[in-house]
Amino acid sequence: MKWPANRITDTSKKSFGMFEKALALEAAGHDLIHLEFGKPVHDTPQHIKDAAIAALQAGKVHYSDLCGEPALRAALAAKLAADNGIAVGPDGVLVTNGLTHAAYLAFMASIDPGDEVILLDPYYPQHINKIELAGGVPVFAPLDRADGFAIRAEWIERRITPRTRMIVLVNPSNPTGRVYSRAELEAVAALAIQHDLLVVTDEVYEHVLYDGAHISIASLPGMAERTLSLFAFTKAYAMDGWRLGYIAAPPAMIPALLKIAMNDVTHVNTFIQYGALAAVADDQASRAAMVADDRDKRDYVVRRLNQMPGVTCASPEATIYAFANIEGTGRDSTSIATDLLEQAHVVVEDGAFYGVGGRGHIRICFGSEPMPRIEQAMDRLSGYFNALPGTGGKDG
Ligand SMILES: Cc1ncc(COP(=O)(O)O)c(C=O)c1O
Repeated sequence: MKWPANRITDTSKKSFGMFEKALALEAAGHDLIHLEFGKPVHDTPQHIKDAAIAALQAGKVHYSDLCGEPALRAALAAKLAADNGIAVGPDGVLVTNGLTHAAYLAFMASIDPGDEVILLDPYYPQHINKIELAGGVPVFAPLDRADGFAIRAEWIERRITPRTRMIVLVNPSNPTGRVYSRAELEAVAALAIQHDLLVVTDEVYEHVLYDGAHISIASLPGMAERTLSLFAFTKAYAMDGWRLGYIAAPPAMIPALLKIAMNDVTHVNTFIQYGALAAVADDQASRAAMVADDRDKRDYVVRRLNQMPGVTCASPEATIYAFANIEGTGRDSTSIATDLLEQAHVVVEDGAFYGVGGRGHIRICFGSEPMPRIEQAMDRLSGYFNALPGTGGKDG
């Protein structure tokens, strides 16, 4: 008898990329610098911790409203209206265990077996497994790498079939660091409306923004009723271990999402929701300070990368990732990422982990280590690229 269900054995392997390879070297005692994981280096701001502790002390230890504590949902509805231009009200908000859970609910509640789901390539790999577990078939539409990974609506349209159910966006984009323009989002919205598709949009990096303005696609005309917008406290408030996120959805979709949520977690831990309430409703100065620190690291890392022979790197407009092109080395990204791990002892992610469109790139997380460690990592990378045969020319 084969015990795991077909939905486990017949879907892609869940992978954390280079991290898995790094574990073996680390176990052998090597000092690795981890720049592969999007784990914020900052601590959660004190006022957020205090609010959760106070809620715990005040007896917020019982079952919550299944959609989330009413005070939190009201604050999130106000934030969605003010920051995102999404007017769903508290009835259109469902609190989740991080963005991961929000995505799982969105896919499980809206994909039927055989439905095709269009993702933009390079994509965020962790969405794939969830789509497949829901019975969906991922279909990849390339971003335009010759134009800074811009969206080409006609390339998406070519992949639309009678089985297409939805388009998935990650905006700001992990891994590319792009923030999509109004024109790009309007083009996606026009396709969704014309072909009657749902849009699922992962906006976990909405506030980790350095240049330009972040626009939620649900704020565009005709989109609120066909968009599931996914958010989390994870990145901007350094709350990755808290596991807190939320979905803004057309209120008519909430019972469908809730049917999945009630069966997998019942609801999110009650007292930690008061930490989230402090995060969203109180002063945003600590968030701004963390983003300013990430911006300094972005500027430093991009400058250093562009000095390395064979490497070019556009400045990410948002996120905590630099997506560096290494094609000038004449080597492929899998071998470069493997060498960096084994020889330079710096763990970066192979661009191919994010799809065909990510080949020739490595993704470097600059938000997961303090500055001295980032400097050390850039010195190690510089040493490696300068020693590669046939790539001389920059000063490193
Ligand atoms: C694009 C994207 N979505 C979702 C997540 C996961 O978020 P959470 O920890 O809130 O589940 C990440 C984490 O790196 C991410 O980069």
